[in-house]
Amino acid sequence: METIAEAIALRPVNLTDKEMLFEWRNTPFLIKLGSSGKAVTWKEHCRWFNNILEKKSTILFIIKMGAIPVGQVRFDPWAECTYLVSIYLLEEYTGKGIGAVALQKGIELMTQEKTDRKFIAFIKMANRASQAVFSKTGFTGFKHLGNIPQGYIAMVYNREEAFLPSISKEKSNGIG
Ligand SMILES: CC(C)(COP(=O)(O)OP(=O)(O)OC[C@H]1O[C@@H](n2cnc3c(N)ncnc32)[C@H](O)[C@@H]1OP(=O)(O)O)[C@@H](O)C(=O)NCCC(=O)NCCS
Repeated sequence: METIAEAIALRPVNLTDKEMLFEWRNTPFLIKLGSSGKAVTWKEHCRWFNNILEKKSTILFIIKMGAIPVGQVRFDPWAECTYLVSIYLLEEYTGKGIGAVALQKGIELMTQEKTDRKFIAFIKMANRASQAVFSKTGFTGFKHLGNIPQGYIAMVYNREEAFLPSISKEKSNGIG
């Protein structure tokens, strides 16, 4: 039988994903987890989506299980050589170990040619599943790192000193 690691693949987003991503973004499960807690309008979505395709600064992959699209992993430019990572799966695909595989594959794709890329994620303190997935993929959690939004922790993939000049060195004891 195929393992999760074999079944999961990432592909770059393309124009045909516009409506699918709009529908996904506005499912109650993902609205609840989002930072705004609100649905987006089609107009707002188009602006966001077109910007991604045109500017190519945000790198978005669709997560596929076999042929089925099951979520996205996104890399937004955050600082020089550094990307802010976010990931979601459709509700019915959560809890099966897909998240860590998809995140790992995303990091691999992002660092294939540019090995000096670094990654950070802001994760809600209460989101233990997400923290577990980032932790498994090699991220470490910090409660004190620059401007972490209220109620979130920062998780960092590459902890070279050059990348973390502002870190307080006070690593969280266990995440969250
Ligand atoms: C967060 C997310 C990507 C995790 O991926 P996933 O495939 O569902 O996660 P997994 O099944 O691999 O579970 C990861 C770990 O979290 C644990 N976990 C799952 N749900 C949990 C919960 N509600 N509370 C505590 N731990 C939980 C699992 O036991 C597992 O731990 P283990 O590896 O030690 O067994 C996925 O659940 C998701 O898309 N959630 C909605 C969107 C979201 O929260 N995105 C993150 C924003 S950055």
